[in-house]
Amino acid sequence: MDPRDRVVIITGASSGIGAATARCFAEAGAHLVLAARSHEALEQVAAGLPRAIAVPTDVTDPVACAHLVERAVEAFGRVDILINNAGIGLTGPITHLARADLERVLAVDLLGPIWLIQATVPLMRTAGRGQIINVSSVLAAQPLPFLGGYAAAKAALEQISNALRIELHGSGITVTVVRPGTTRTAFNQRRLGHGRERRRIAPPGVPPEAVARTILRAARTEPRMVYVSWSDRLALWISRMVPGLIDSILARAFVWEEHSVQH
Ligand SMILES: NC(=O)c1ccc[n+]([C@@H]2O[C@H](COP(=O)([O-])OP(=O)(O)OC[C@H]3O[C@@H](n4cnc5c(N)ncnc54)[C@H](OP(=O)(O)O)[C@@H]3O)[C@@H](O)[C@H]2O)c1
Repeated sequence: MDPRDRVVIITGASSGIGAATARCFAEAGAHLVLAARSHEALEQVAAGLPRAIAVPTDVTDPVACAHLVERAVEAFGRVDILINNAGIGLTGPITHLARADLERVLAVDLLGPIWLIQATVPLMRTAGRGQIINVSSVLAAQPLPFLGGYAAAKAALEQISNALRIELHGSGITVTVVRPGTTRTAFNQRRLGHGRERRRIAPPGVPPEAVARTILRAARTEPRMVYVSWSDRLALWISRMVPGLIDSILARAFVWEEHSVQH
């Protein structure tokens, strides 16, 4: 749908892709309800934009998610588009992933979107229209070594999206998955987990504005899934064609810094 005059909730709007998406949708004339935990950063993003309010929210808390949607309705009367963008990463060999880190990444990347979907869909059903946009990752389709916990959370988010799309068939509500590849944000510095992988191949990535423009286009065209770059799409196609070769290339390209693993 055309975002002009639409009410759009964007989570993870305090930085990176979420903040860029907020700017993009503001330019397109949307009313914005911006959510993240950091009050100050969020207020700063909202203050620079017309028709935007900041609602500090921890998406892992279902009550806070319900409150976010209530605030959107109080401020603008409805919710047209929900963009589940808040996310955190997790690094580490599967054999060493800590329970607390795994639970956290699932709480933010998978459960948070579900709480917001549950709070938003009833309103959209009554309105007879709406769009849910879930920001996933190319890693949902082709995990990289030492990023399996994060990839699993995003893969699960995609299956939730796919099931939801069928459940909402005929309701006027559409569900879109966005699959960015490497994006130049603070995301990698904020990843959970002990230690870091050393990469022999490190794509430069795209700026967050490129992902934001893709999300805006996805709002207009309401596809099932969108990629940000053709190279991401091509890489996934190759990994489907020759999975064994890709496994062996990735196994050589990524090295875990063993000394930093916490036992
Ligand atoms: N950067 C990449 O290479 C890349 C690639 C593919 C997909 N993605 C996905 O893109 C999305 C945005 O990431 P980014 O690159 O923009 O990273 P980012 O700059 O670190 O942004 C992450 C956002 O999520 C928010 N957030 C984290 N935990 C939260 C919580 N519990 N409740 C509410 N908000 C929370 C953060 O704000 P607060 O800390 O203030 O809460 C921040 O605004 C994520 O879903 C990520 O998985 C990123």
